Amino acid sequence: MKDKIAALLTEIEAFVPENADALEAFRLKFMSKKGLIAGLFADFKTVAPEDRKEMGILLNELKDKAQGRLNQFRQIGEIEKAPVAKPDLTLPAGQFSGGRHPLSIVRNQINSIFKRIGFTISEGPEIEDDFHNFTALNFPPEHPARDMQDTFFISRDPDIALRTHTSSVQVRVMEAGKLPIRIIAPGRVFRNEAISARAHCIFHQIEGLYVDKDVSFADLKQTLFYFAQEFFGAETRIRFRPSYFPFTETSAEMDVSCNICGGSGCNICKHSGWVEIMGCGMVDPNVLEACGIDSSIYSGYAFGMGIERITMMKFQINDLRLFFENDIRFLKQFEAAQ
Ligand code: PHE
Repeated sequence: MKDKIAALLTEIEAFVPENADALEAFRLKFMSKKGLIAGLFADFKTVAPEDRKEMGILLNELKDKAQGRLNQFRQIGEIEKAPVAKPDLTLPAGQFSGGRHPLSIVRNQINSIFKRIGFTISEGPEIEDDFHNFTALNFPPEHPARDMQDTFFISRDPDIALRTHTSSVQVRVMEAGKLPIRIIAPGRVFRNEAISARAHCIFHQIEGLYVDKDVSFADLKQTLFYFAQEFFGAETRIRFRPSYFPFTETSAEMDVSCNICGGSGCNICKHSGWVEIMGCGMVDPNVLEACGIDSSIYSGYAFGMGIERITMMKFQINDLRLFFENDIRFLKQFEAAQ
């Protein structure tokens, strides 16, 4: 009996069915009520009492092996039978092309609004020297505004830093000396700020600069009014509040009427009806001179706005950190926007 068990064991271990019928034949041969293993169990009573223990163990092992083999191949059969997901050939092509980041969408919209009235796009380096980020913009060495900007320095003496605003691009364009100037400069800026729902150490600005003969504050107001109406809607109102920047004189902050409540007051505008969106002003004559432009002939205006703030208003996003996490669930919501 021992030899018989050993022979069957070898046969079971070597067994690989070609198809479901072969597996069924295997089951009938070994595991059915009249199968070989049942037969061996029936013969068990003929085994000498002293051999019964060993034979019992061997027989049970054989049965387990056969059952295991059966289960294993049944499972494979089921996997093969499982329906395979077929591609749906009726769907339109190109559906997985992705979408633009909301900050890019808004930047492109702002760019095109200003391009329509003759502005061109300028860019500058993200790593700047002290002159372009501060000194030429009329920040005296000990000016508290330098602290205000919470700068990331790469080296000291000479001071090299990650630019704290896109106003450094103004300086580069003015230095280049081609007048008149009518540019916007979108780009990434850096400040050493604690990261929260409303602030980040990396964000984006768009700078605007217009330098020509006889440029006045009225030109600035009209240009920004046009921008606000194009971007936020024809019913948008604007207002200016006096402010301070070292590089502009006069300086102002511009608010737009809240595009969510239309000015009647809501959470987004903190119930004031207005949302501050940018700093602006007339280019300080000191800045023109530092960049080699004769301030007795030329004047100019400049403005700078944070793209995150405007994007949050436009799409009603309540946490600035979402822009930098690139969570697909967030980004997917902007696939349809352009
Ligand atoms: N550079 C200013 C800032 O980062 C914004 C600004 C730009 C203000 C141009 C006036 C003119 O806050």
